[in-house]
Amino acid sequence: MKGIILAGGTGTRLKDLTKVTNKHLLPVYDKPMIYFPINTLKCADIDSILVVTDKRRTTDFLLLLGSGSDFGVRFTYALQESAKGIADALSKAKDFVNNDDVTVILGDNIIFGDIKELKEPLNKSCRIFLKKVEDPERFGIAYVKNGIITKIVEKPKQPKSNLAIIGLYQYKSNVFDIINNVKPSKRNELEITDVNKYFLDNDDIEYKIIDNDWIDAGTIESLFKANEMERKFKATDKYSY
Ligand code: G1P
Repeated sequence: MKGIILAGGTGTRLKDLTKVTNKHLLPVYDKPMIYFPINTLKCADIDSILVVTDKRRTTDFLLLLGSGSDFGVRFTYALQESAKGIADALSKAKDFVNNDDVTVILGDNIIFGDIKELKEPLNKSCRIFLKKVEDPERFGIAYVKNGIITKIVEKPKQPKSNLAIIGLYQYKSNVFDIINNVKPSKRNELEITDVNKYFLDNDDIEYKIIDNDWIDAGTIESLFKANEMERKFKATDKYSY
């Protein structure tokens, strides 16, 4: 299993914090944000990790993360030339992944504690992870009926499910063929939700509902909340990293 951290993008929802740096280098209490997805992959025993970032900040990532020896992993780096969506960033990882399975995590997704299911072999070509939330309109949402996903919608205005699709996905290597056939969305991005919808339409998707504390730290409010969560968990020693 290979790992990919998607750490590109322009971080517009966090401006001006992201004017001179990349979102994933911002602090979350005592650590740069990207340390959290690194830990999530490490907890799943994934030690070969590709960091996809934007070309403006490559040197900063190299300075912070280096070869990976400080973290007990091996980092490889790839560039996303422009912000064209999560699936576009993932497409840069084709040669790195080769024929292996891959775990993809968005660099602003902070998951506290490990997710044991990440280590389980894939039964389908795609596995997504769901978490009950109170603000489902902010996320990709899955509708589940009788234990089966029936529908996936990206940021529905009036969601009738509160199961958010978190920014953590596992795929077999055929995902790269699927991305090649995905068309850009209205906002001109290759959406990961469209990739996942393909697997849903082909009955080739599985899911896990997680009960870990989780937050997408991509907005000012949620970044602030992420800092508070990390501070609280650190003080109570709830999680070991
Ligand atoms: C992305 C995905 C969305 C997912 C979310 C999780 O949204 O498009 O489906 O629920 O990450 O963090 P974004 O944060 O890029 O708007």
